[in-house]
Amino acid sequence: MNAGIGTAADYPGVFVSIEGGEGGGKSTQIALLCEALRARGKTVLATREPGGSEGAEAIRALLVQGETGRWDAMSELLLLLAARRDHLRRTILPALAEGAWVVSDRFGDSTMAYQGYAHGLGRAVVETLAQAAIDGFSPALTFILDLPVAEGLARAGGRGPSGEDRFERMGTAFHQRLRDGFLDIARREPERCRVVDASRPVAAVHAEMLGHLLQRWPELAKAAAR
Ligand code: TMP
Repeated sequence: MNAGIGTAADYPGVFVSIEGGEGGGKSTQIALLCEALRARGKTVLATREPGGSEGAEAIRALLVQGETGRWDAMSELLLLLAARRDHLRRTILPALAEGAWVVSDRFGDSTMAYQGYAHGLGRAVVETLAQAAIDGFSPALTFILDLPVAEGLARAGGRGPSGEDRFERMGTAFHQRLRDGFLDIARREPERCRVVDASRPVAAVHAEMLGHLLQRWPELAKAAAR
């Protein structure tokens, strides 16, 4: 099945995703990572999921607000893939085509972990539909910010009443399956995924992520930050 998206190798840019459960400090780490890349002369686009294009942001509001039972798992999966396809076509792929680095706050691994593992849809249906919708498009490198469930939920709860807490309210057992799911994804794809212990101070987490980035793209070290 050809969804007209292609693979990462078709584009000169570099696509990186940051993943993990709630309260792992993704936003802070993305800001630091983008700053480090820009200091090395790269053009960087930071984006997020669900969202990142006008249509996908509209779908985001449907997903992250309201009652936990508002959608069943399959409806969530279909909404997420509709949002992802729009985000790819309108935002990510044009930037990658111009040679930019694109850093996304969540991507396909969130769908596998939240809908596939935590909601229990299973790997096969998520993989099959992602293949049909977006050619199974996948980042070159993925950071999974890992921390104990209780710690993550406590941190996320401290973010204030954004109204975007539909998934946070899904219960501890859901979030434990989610964490286990992310770790299983990383075990299955060690080439692409780096698990980072996010319970440490911000600077330590950033240093480890930057180290992984430089290991994967040693040419970045030559353009060291001044
Ligand atoms: P955020 O907390 O990173 O802003 O993400 C919004 C929520 O959407 C988060 O609770 C996880 C959820 N989500 C999924 O369930 N599946 C997905 O594929 C994505 C991208 C997000």
